[in-house]
Amino acid sequence: MTGVDRSAEAVSQRIVDASLGAVDMIAVYVGDRLGWYRSLADDGPASAEELAARTDTNARYAREWLEQQAVTGMLTVDDATPPRFTLPAGAAEVLTDSDSLLFTAPLARMFCGSAVELPALLDAYRSGGGVSWAQLGTDARESQADMNRPWYERALAEALASVPDLDALLRRPDTSIADIGCGGGWSTIALARAYPEALLHGFDIDRASVELTQANLGMYPDLGDRVTFTERDAAHLPSAAYDAAFAFECVHDMPRPVEVLTAIRHSLVPGGTLIVMDEAVGDAFAAPDDIRELDDTERLMYGFSLLVCLPDGMSSQPSVGTGTVMRPDTLRAYASDAGFDDMTVLSIENFGFWRFYRFTAPS
Ligand SMILES: C[S@@+](CC[C@H](N)C(=O)[O-])C[C@H]1O[C@@H](n2cnc3c(N)ncnc32)[C@H](O)[C@@H]1O
Repeated sequence: MTGVDRSAEAVSQRIVDASLGAVDMIAVYVGDRLGWYRSLADDGPASAEELAARTDTNARYAREWLEQQAVTGMLTVDDATPPRFTLPAGAAEVLTDSDSLLFTAPLARMFCGSAVELPALLDAYRSGGGVSWAQLGTDARESQADMNRPWYERALAEALASVPDLDALLRRPDTSIADIGCGGGWSTIALARAYPEALLHGFDIDRASVELTQANLGMYPDLGDRVTFTERDAAHLPSAAYDAAFAFECVHDMPRPVEVLTAIRHSLVPGGTLIVMDEAVGDAFAAPDDIRELDDTERLMYGFSLLVCLPDGMSSQPSVGTGTVMRPDTLRAYASDAGFDDMTVLSIENFGFWRFYRFTAPS
């Protein structure tokens, strides 16, 4: 079929389909947060009574959820009395294996968590205000950290190694690296593990995120003397302190990105390198009229933008109001205003939803 069918029947069906997707997502959130997927993955098939007993939850609700999960095709069920439900291996990986690059359960935390803030979001949409990252809370913060972690832990080292001069810079003894907007700190930890002679300095403006970094760093006691995390607005960084800086998926959230990029430029030694990892969105806005050309990356990023990143960026004024869909030319303009004139796109392909941009501080 070509073209987007906008007949009443087609649009109505689309809303029904979207509702089915929303129900699936909310049910994933429930199973994730109540430990039901974890129990099915770790302890095996269960009846409703067994699952409730294992997870200290209510058997009547557990039964409804198990039946919903079977009806929607996530779980399989036998014909015993009472029936027992199984989480197949593929679903277990996606829903419980936090090391897997296919671990997408945290998406449900992001969208369900932000939906809780809909009254505040409506206020912001009316007034031009925002909803801060701190207000979006634990679900958004943990979702962000858990979604990105496997990519940093499993794919970042190889991706950076594919850029030889950058890899050589990061490999130098005592290379000093800043990780701006480090969130839960997994990127900082991954860099420290990939570059055993580097010194890592993670910064985040959000206190709860910095607390999370300490817990995460605690899992790697051998890194303790090379990694620090500091609660700080990255608009205020020490001068000429770093050989390299990274900004992973955070520039588009910043109300005043030029201010931060300028601070990063000053914080780099002359000729130092800045790597920005941000969404791999298209070069320009486009609304295709052919259903075969709907772009799922753009659709997802606009979803994040509506519910999370734009309201976060607007929560501190004045704000440029970037939103998640930061096009390459937008970043180039921010960086140019901050004194970086040389944006290049690194040839790192198929790294999640992201693209890597490189900048060099003037000598
Ligand atoms: C979407 S999260 C990304 C976190 C992390 N880099 C990752 O990839 O998971 C954006 C982060 O940027 C932080 N942030 C936003 N503005 C900041 C600023 N001016 N200074 C430091 N951190 C900032 C937020 O607190 C949040 O933790």
